[in-house]
Amino acid sequence: MKKLVVLISGSGTNLQSILDACASGRIHGRVAAVFSNKASAYGLTRAQQAGVPTLSLAASNFADREAFDRQLIAEIDAYAPDLVVLAGYMRILSSAFVARYHDRLLNIHPSLLPKYPGLHTHRQALENGDTEHGTSVHFVTDELDGGPVILQARVPVLAGDSEEAITGRVQQQEHVIYPQVINWFIEGRLVMRDGKAWLDGKPLPPQGCDRA
Ligand code: GRF
Repeated sequence: MKKLVVLISGSGTNLQSILDACASGRIHGRVAAVFSNKASAYGLTRAQQAGVPTLSLAASNFADREAFDRQLIAEIDAYAPDLVVLAGYMRILSSAFVARYHDRLLNIHPSLLPKYPGLHTHRQALENGDTEHGTSVHFVTDELDGGPVILQARVPVLAGDSEEAITGRVQQQEHVIYPQVINWFIEGRLVMRDGKAWLDGKPLPPQGCDRA
């Protein structure tokens, strides 16, 4: 069975959707380990409840980003994963880390990329008066939130929405599309080649597939 390693920093609702999808067979693989850069991340508890080994690494114990990522790579490689999944992992990756996993490293970013890379995406969508917002699953490259998009989900921004409301609406979609994309990869339908995402042998357009 194909193996995933998942990296988190926070509450881990996306991790939970991945664990649930593995348990129900919607992902034909298993989570071999979960790593966090925050010992307090609730996602670690979710993993432990699912019987998945966990480890947290504190950046303060390492001289620099490269040293941190070298250790993280060693810990990840001990599980020989087929795919490394970033699920709310709030730490910039070194080039060496991206190079190590470059064609098997996925991220989910809460905006309709290329709009709003970086932080506070929901707030920006609200402040800019957007009528539509969403989330994107993409392969990771050296460019922050800039790798080829695989699948996006769109949600409406409604009059009077708070940041919490729009966050919840986006996350509901994330919990559907991330397990779906992970399973495409696990089944060999999805690859990264020539800097593009390919699904079923066809290159995806810049916005990836679209799920309304
Ligand atoms: C998600 O909204 C994801 O798009 C972003 O960080 C958030 C993580 O949430 N990268 P959770 O920890 O999975 O609940």
